[in-house]
Amino acid sequence: LRTLRDLEVEGKRVLTRVDYNVPLQDGRVADDTRIRATLPTIAALRERGARLILCSHLGRPKGQVREDLRLAPVADRLSALLDMDVRYVRDITGDEARTMASQLGPGEVGLLENLRFDPREEQNDPEFARELASLAECYVNDAFGAAHRAHASTAGVAALLPSAAGLLMEREIHALTRVLEADEHPFVLILGGAKISDKIGVIENLSRRADALLLGGGMANTFLKALGYEVGCSLAEEDRLDEARRLLSLAEQRGIEVVLPSDAVVAPELGAVEQARTVPIDGVGPDDAIFDIGPDTVARFSKVIGDAALVVWNGPMGVFEIPAFREGTRGIAQAVAACPGFTVVGGGDSAAAVEELGLADRIDHVSTGGGATLEFLEGKELPGVRLLMEENG
Ligand code: 3PG
Repeated sequence: LRTLRDLEVEGKRVLTRVDYNVPLQDGRVADDTRIRATLPTIAALRERGARLILCSHLGRPKGQVREDLRLAPVADRLSALLDMDVRYVRDITGDEARTMASQLGPGEVGLLENLRFDPREEQNDPEFARELASLAECYVNDAFGAAHRAHASTAGVAALLPSAAGLLMEREIHALTRVLEADEHPFVLILGGAKISDKIGVIENLSRRADALLLGGGMANTFLKALGYEVGCSLAEEDRLDEARRLLSLAEQRGIEVVLPSDAVVAPELGAVEQARTVPIDGVGPDDAIFDIGPDTVARFSKVIGDAALVVWNGPMGVFEIPAFREGTRGIAQAVAACPGFTVVGGGDSAAAVEELGLADRIDHVSTGGGATLEFLEGKELPGVRLLMEENG
């Protein structure tokens, strides 16, 4: 991997791709984790006198300009975090952007408009990549969260300029490669979230190395149902029952201990929190829906996690946004934080949960990627990473 140490940036204009695809609320950044995660790279480049031209996508505007997806709130938050004026332009590769880029002094920071306002970004259009490249003299990719997309700003431009991974990209690849390659046991894989369809590739790939697989969240319902348990009106993927059985027998063949919930917090529906109650897993009634794992499950999972040398966790254990269904995720987050082994939390919702619980500092690596982290753990080569690995980028 080519890193910042391999790139001559002194005094140069550096096009820096970041993943500032952050949640907005009332025109403000609601969670700035991804912005803060890029500060080390920005600081390192500024210290070396680089002139930074930051660029990112935000949301999925599908090639159209959308007022609600402009990067202005991101520029405001970044200016506050850096305690300096970030020069934001409402332009990507036009006159305004070129003028901004040419006027930046050493250590100054500019931000282009949402890359996906131009349809050519997602098409990885060579002309658009050339226009982006012409703004700068070298390129740094710190957008791990977008590295699974082969777009102009993540892939196309890397071939046109001397390029390197930023510090966040480097840290992500380092931690997740440790998961893929390391021989640390017991290796405990904890998966939650709504659907098994998102996690099949990860189970298939990581079950080669894992010793235990702990299953919670909505996806556990599909496994429970496949095993013949009553899951009432819980979310379960009817069309994935065979897949769930196949994954269970794959785990068995590979000698992995699979731990499913032994109790659950149920309610007639998500809004009926006053009727929420904890039941043993064989006590779920036809009118119940499972919204969280129960305390017995938290205790059993925590015991396995406590003995682990390596933990990877992706996906919440219940409907974390609702306090009545939060305890399962909180309990697992606490167990992971307390685990003395190497701990990795990956992917949007579980990463947001550990942040919100104030436990992120006690996790060895909280990944900023969602889909990118999953694809990396599936063993896929990410287009945004591949080009940074090649000899002459
Ligand atoms: C993410 O949030 O996972 C990345 O920013 C990629 O966004 P996308 O799924 O819209 O490409």
